[in-house]
Amino acid sequence: MTSRIFAPPGTQDGLPEEIRMKRYVESVFMDQCRCFGYGEVHTPVFEYGELFERGVGPVTDIVEKELYTFTDKQGESLALRPEGTTGIARAVIQHEMYKVLPQKLCYKITCYRQEDPEKGRLREFHQIGAECYGSPNPQADAEVITLAYTALRAMGIGNLSLNINSLGCDGCRLGYINTLTRYLLPYANSGELCPTCVSRMSRNPLRVMDCKNPSCKAIAKNAPKLIDFLCSDCRSHFETVKRHLKAVGIGFNVKEHLIRGLDYYDRTVFEFKAGEGGATGTVCGGGRYDGLVKRMGGPHVPVVGFAIGEERAIISMRESGIEEIPAEPPLVYVAAMDPAAAGRGAARLRGLGLYAERDLMGLDLNSQRTAAKSSGASWLVTVSENEICLKNLKTGAELLLPADGWDETARIIND
Ligand code: HAM
Repeated sequence: MTSRIFAPPGTQDGLPEEIRMKRYVESVFMDQCRCFGYGEVHTPVFEYGELFERGVGPVTDIVEKELYTFTDKQGESLALRPEGTTGIARAVIQHEMYKVLPQKLCYKITCYRQEDPEKGRLREFHQIGAECYGSPNPQADAEVITLAYTALRAMGIGNLSLNINSLGCDGCRLGYINTLTRYLLPYANSGELCPTCVSRMSRNPLRVMDCKNPSCKAIAKNAPKLIDFLCSDCRSHFETVKRHLKAVGIGFNVKEHLIRGLDYYDRTVFEFKAGEGGATGTVCGGGRYDGLVKRMGGPHVPVVGFAIGEERAIISMRESGIEEIPAEPPLVYVAAMDPAAAGRGAARLRGLGLYAERDLMGLDLNSQRTAAKSSGASWLVTVSENEICLKNLKTGAELLLPADGWDETARIIND
C-alpha cells in the first residue's frame, strides 16, 4: 500500500503563522462575547445523525449531500457536526437550560461538510458563533447582529456589508410556498430547473431559491418574494429589527432573495459579506429560529444566533491588509559557554513564568549574543560559573548579579 503524504482535499494543516491568526480571531471574538455577556459552551464533534436531519432539515444540501456519517461498533449511526446550532439546541434541551432564560451562549468549533473544496470552502473548517436563547424580541436580533458586526470590525475586516431578510413564520410561508410552487412548475416541466430542484419542489420548494446552479439561480431571481407574504406581526418584527440596527449605526441591505441554506430559520435571516467575494465572501451567517427547540423535542424557546467562518474571516483580514499576527518575541535570551548552564538558567526563568529562549544549535557565545538580538528579546542573560550578567538589549544597560540571583533577575526583568 502506498502511503499518501498529503492531507485530504478540503482540509488544512495549521502551521504556526496560520494558528496565530486563528487564535487572534478567536480571542477577539471571545473578548466581544464577554462584553456582551455570552458564556462559552462545548458540545461533541459527533452527534446522532438523525439530530442534524431534524435540526438543519432533511431536504438541505448539508444533510442530503454534505454530512460525514459513520456507524460505530455499537451500530449507532453518527455524524460529524456540519455546524454548531443543532448540537447546542440538543444540549439546551438535555440540560434543561431553557428553565433559566435568557441564555447567551458562544462557541468555537470544528465543523465538517463534504463540499467541493475551493478557496474559502473547506471540508474541515472552524466556526465561532453565538446563540441568544429566550428572547422573541427584535432587540435580540439587532443585538446579535451587532455582536457579529463588532467582532468582525475588531478583527480588522473592512469593506463589510450586511444583508438581511425576513423568512416570516410558518403561517407566512404556507401562503408563499403555494405561490412559489405555481411559479416554479412550468420551469420544472420544461427541464430548466436542475434535477435536485425538481425533486425538492414537492418536499421543500424554498430550497430552489438557494440553488447554486446558474439556470436555477436565474429562475429564482424573478420568483415571487417571501417578504411580500409576511403577516403583520412578522412585518412589524422586521421593521423593528431595522430600526434597532439604524439606532446603533449599522448599515444594511434588504436582500429579498436571501433564504440561507438551513431549514430552521424563522423571521430574521442575515449574512455579512466581506470584499468583492462571491459565495465564499460570506464571512458570517445567522438568523432567528424560534421553532427549532420545540421541533427537537423541547419546549417553545425563541432563539437568534450566527456563526462566523474563521478561515473566511482570516482571508478577509488579509484582504484588509492584516497579513499576519507577529509571533511574540522572547522576553529574555539566556546565553552561556556551557550549554548545561544555559539550560539551567532558562529553566529557572521559565519556572518563574518568563518566556526565556536559549540556543539549541550549538552556537558559540558570540553567536548566541547575536541570536539574542535577532530574536527580538528585550534582555540578554549571560550565565557564567560565578555570576549572572543581565543586559537590557533596548538600553544597553548592564548589571551583575550573583550566580544564584535568579529571583532578583526575574524581578528586574519583570519591572
Ligand atoms: P452557515 O451559513 O452554514 O450557517 O455557516 C456560517 C459560516 O461558516 C459561513 O458564513 C462561512 O463563513 C462559514 N462556512 C460555512 N461552510 C463553510 C465551508 N465549507 N468552508 C469554510 N467556511 C464555511 C451556520 O452554520 C449556522 N449554524 C449559523 C447560525 C448560528 N445560525 C443561527 N445560529
